[in-house]
Amino acid sequence: MKIYTPLVVLTIGAIDCGTIQAADIAHGETLARRWCATCHVVAPNQQTTTGEAPPFAATGRKPDFDVNRLTFFLLDPHPKMPNMSLTRTEAADIAAYIATLGR
Ligand code: HEC
Repeated sequence: MKIYTPLVVLTIGAIDCGTIQAADIAHGETLARRWCATCHVVAPNQQTTTGEAPPFAATGRKPDFDVNRLTFFLLDPHPKMPNMSLTRTEAADIAAYIATLGR
C-alpha cells in the first residue's frame, strides 16, 4: 500500500504582504457613490443631492489639493459628516478618485 502525503497549497493572502498597494480609483468611486452621494455630487453624471456639501469635482480642482492630506481628512471626518469609519485603504481610494475629477 502506497501512502500519499497530501500537498497542501497555501494561497491565503500571503501574496501581497509587504507591497505598497496603489490606490484603487474604481473602488474609490464605488465607495463615494455608496457613502457620499447623499450629500456630495460625486460624479459628473450625478444631478442632485440633498445636502449643501461641495461637489467632489470642485474639491479635486482646488489649487492646494493634495491626495495625502485628503486621505487623512477622510479618516477623521468633519462634524457635518457621519463617521463612516473608513479604513486607510478606503480613504486613499476615495481621495485618488476625487483627484481624477479635478483633472
Ligand atoms: C451627511 C452629509 C455628508 C456626507 C454623507 C458626506 N459629506 Fe462630505 N461634507 C458634507 C458637508 C456639509 C461639507 C461642507 C463642509 C462643512 O460644512 O463641514 C462636506 C465637506 C467635505 C469635504 C471638504 C470639501 C472641500 O472642498 O473643502 C470633503 C473632501 C468631503 N466632504 C468628503 C466626503 C466624502 C469622501 C464622503 C463619503 C465617504 C462624504 N464627504 C460624505 C456633508 C457630507
